[in-house]
Amino acid sequence: MRIGVDYYPEQWDRELWIKDADLMKKTGVRLVRMAEFAWCRLEPREGEFDFAWLDEAVRMFADRGIGVVLCTPTSCPPLWFYEKYPDAVMTEQDGQRTRTGIRGHRCINHPAVRRHCQRIVEEMTAHYAEDPAVVAWQLDNELEAYFCFCDHCAERFRDWVKNRYGTLEAVNRAYGNVVWSGEYSSWEQVRLPFGHYPSAWLNPAYMLDHSRFASDRAIEFVRWQAAIIHERCPAVPVTTNVWFSEHMPDFYKEFEDLDFISYDNYPAARPPREDAAYFSHAFRLDMMRGVKRRPFWVMEQLSGGLGCWAPMGRMPEPGLIRGYSLQAFAHGADTVLHFRWRTANIGAEMHWHGLIDHSNVPGRRFNEFADLCKTADALGEARGTAILSEAAILFSFDNEYAFKIQPQTEGYSYLEQPRRLHRAMAGLGMNVDVISSGEDLSGYRIVCAPEMYVGDAAAAERLHSFAREGGTVILTARSGVKDKYNNAVMAPLPGVYRDMVGAYVSEYDPIGRDTVSVRFSDGTVLSAGQLCDILEPEGAETLAVYDGEYFRGKAAVTRHRYGKGTVYYIGAVGEQAMYDRVVSEAVKEAGAEYIPGLPPSVEVTVRRGKGKKFYFVFNLSPRETATDIKGRRVSLAPYEMKIITEDDREGAAAQK
Ligand code: GLA
Ligand code: ZN
Repeated sequence: MRIGVDYYPEQWDRELWIKDADLMKKTGVRLVRMAEFAWCRLEPREGEFDFAWLDEAVRMFADRGIGVVLCTPTSCPPLWFYEKYPDAVMTEQDGQRTRTGIRGHRCINHPAVRRHCQRIVEEMTAHYAEDPAVVAWQLDNELEAYFCFCDHCAERFRDWVKNRYGTLEAVNRAYGNVVWSGEYSSWEQVRLPFGHYPSAWLNPAYMLDHSRFASDRAIEFVRWQAAIIHERCPAVPVTTNVWFSEHMPDFYKEFEDLDFISYDNYPAARPPREDAAYFSHAFRLDMMRGVKRRPFWVMEQLSGGLGCWAPMGRMPEPGLIRGYSLQAFAHGADTVLHFRWRTANIGAEMHWHGLIDHSNVPGRRFNEFADLCKTADALGEARGTAILSEAAILFSFDNEYAFKIQPQTEGYSYLEQPRRLHRAMAGLGMNVDVISSGEDLSGYRIVCAPEMYVGDAAAAERLHSFAREGGTVILTARSGVKDKYNNAVMAPLPGVYRDMVGAYVSEYDPIGRDTVSVRFSDGTVLSAGQLCDILEPEGAETLAVYDGEYFRGKAAVTRHRYGKGTVYYIGAVGEQAMYDRVVSEAVKEAGAEYIPGLPPSVEVTVRRGKGKKFYFVFNLSPRETATDIKGRRVSLAPYEMKIITEDDREGAAAQK
């Protein structure tokens, strides 16, 4: 495992660079990332490039054996650029231009932005093409699928729609534009959703396409830039850093042309005290690994209290700097860069804390980081080992967008059920892959397919054949609801999944923040809310019934033998215990490997390879705890991560 830091030479005096580099070397830092916001220093005036200062910084690190990740600065064009092209900023939904003064103002679809981005990227990559110090490129920074409402974007959107549907009749049909006399009679009428976002008043099929379009444009920008870098630096891997934001591009497509995944990881500096909230963060790590089902990097990792636009937050408690980094490794990261080496003394982010405080006196967090660097070196053996999972959870960006457009019921959120299912499996010490609903399912024993909402015929077919051939599937309410356009399907729910579920929904009640009890056959009563599917079994066995409301006694959770496999259906959004219960039954029945009796705060992940099994045992709680792992007693201090190894004869045999 490699540890690095994010560093901003342009923000410090040169005398500090050497001191910093010396200390990094001494501490065991292996990588620095630089330059993602430095355009005004790299091209201070149009067409005048200055790489001398960056060369000096690169050399200084290289001389100390520290690899350099260089970034293209395309998220922050300098002010001379905006002065020349005032309309190259993004346009807001109200038609007003974004004001400069912060960062990331540019519209990625504006031709002048493209021209200038192309030039700086070409100059920069040509300049560093032969430099062995550069070990990777990051393009742009946290590029989002922004909604820009400028004329260029409007034109691109029109092209996108034309390209997808070909004729106005086809668009009108797909969007159901007849409602409220919205039928297009010319292409010019295809406009951006001005002034209404995020309003559910707009047509949901059209809005889903608009989100898909915004994602496609961000991805096109990534591909375009990656191609420029690949051409000049063919031997150096290229990535971009993503995060979980309001407007996420479809990560699965975004990384297709990139060489590795990187992710900005800011877990809670003060983890939730309630047991039910544990593990929720690991979901994201498992999702990042699931993007390519390969190891990934953390390009920015929590290093101190957060604060900038918001008031300052708590400092990470002792153990978390080290613990969270190792947690990322346990879930598939093989490189983690901490954001940032030192807290900025200038600029808007001066309260977003790095490893070292403003004083430049290394303290508690830095010492823990230094200890992490040592542990990471010692973990060299586990590098390149695999995370093999028997369980997967499906995720889809179409659903992510569609649920944002129509949030179903009061308090409903797409990610809640995937997270609870994940937490249920993590509680059993299982590795879980969070993967695209477009992925192949072979090799898994259990696949959770929560909220298969927007129609995806291929995914539905894969789930059917997976179950028929002996797999276990867990489906939930809001499946089979829409067609691929985001229009409601005219069939009893769960639509295409009805046969495999062995039950249909006679009516649903979006109860929102109300709750209703659900009684399992052994008498256990749990609570559910948000949305209740009233199920009529037609072959499925009833595992739980509603214990309240006018649908008391009706089926809420079912199980169906389908082909050689089993299909569970959870008809209401339940409390965590409901997922724990269904998942543990499914896991035991499917014969998947799990670790019984883990305390709720203990997370276990297994990496295998080189004839060994590495158990990463993480106590994500401020309390001491102890547990049994494979017949061994493991005691853990607050937030402690312990790594236990054992011989893996089976694995070794399987690998041959
Ligand atoms: C993001 C950005 C960083 C920095 C951090 C903290 O992850 O990529 O540049 O702004 O947030 O605010
Ligand atoms: Zn635009």
